[in-house]
Amino acid sequence: MQVIEKVQALRQYLSECRQDSIALVPTMGCLHAGHVSLIRKAKRLADVVVVSLYVNPMQFGEGEDFEQYPRTFEEDVTICEAEGVDVLFHPANLYADDGVNIGLHVHEMDAVLCGASRVGHFDGVVTVVNMLFNIVQPNLAIFGEKDWQQLTILRRMVADLHMPITVVGSALIREDDGLAMSSRNRYLTDLEREKALFLSQILQKMQALAAQGESKQYILAMGLAYLQAADIELDYLEIRHEHSLRLSKDMPALGDRIFVAATIGKTRLIDNMPLLKILENVA
Ligand code: PAJ
Repeated sequence: MQVIEKVQALRQYLSECRQDSIALVPTMGCLHAGHVSLIRKAKRLADVVVVSLYVNPMQFGEGEDFEQYPRTFEEDVTICEAEGVDVLFHPANLYADDGVNIGLHVHEMDAVLCGASRVGHFDGVVTVVNMLFNIVQPNLAIFGEKDWQQLTILRRMVADLHMPITVVGSALIREDDGLAMSSRNRYLTDLEREKALFLSQILQKMQALAAQGESKQYILAMGLAYLQAADIELDYLEIRHEHSLRLSKDMPALGDRIFVAATIGKTRLIDNMPLLKILENVA
């Protein structure tokens, strides 16, 4: 495996692979089994796999955890090597010395869910992913369903900007007890870790209510009541359409997805599940 830090060196390396298919897996490092599942999918779908590892300052807001974000470079290298990654792209900085003059802006799709509470976050994501796409020029790029809104926005970016890149989604990977894997889980104390488990459990309870034929209004009210009883600092708990991210008030239907974000201790966690569980296997 090559570890490459400079854009020019990466371009040079990739210029010799252009007859092969190239997959890009963008990450911010601190790799776990969720990231590994993306890498494995990339290996199945393409000849050459590039993993990027860059903690992107532009997607962190003021007071967020950019400085503390876990950086575990040596372990990440070992994981990528073991997974047969061809190139680990690890730039020191992707932005011009005088900051961001030209970036991309997300309209509307970031007015809801995480975009509403993390203002400017998705502008940072689309700007850096666009840079990575320009540098790597991959045939396909893999993103996790853990960050459903991010995946949806990136699909839209590729479509709206006519990028010749296929965005591939990859299933959310959980710990054995159901907690969605996240680089931020390592911030949690044992007690917070127990509390964090409520998030996936509440989503499952909401799925069970949907399976019993309850209305979305009732399911949401019950979900909120469970969360209040667990004393969790909620950012949002919503049922939205998984493509449009719009709300709808009717009975549970194909394409409805439950989204939750909460702060446990100082750690912001997110999770999502389809409202109708049976449809997960069909998709
Ligand atoms: P990061 O949080 O490191 O995640 C990198 C990729 O791994 C994303 O596509 C994310 O959805 C996926 N991922 C994380 N946890 C997962 C899990 N439990 N199951 C499945 N996939 C999971 O997301 C980012 O970095 C950044 O925003 C980035 C896209 C790299 C742009 O800076």
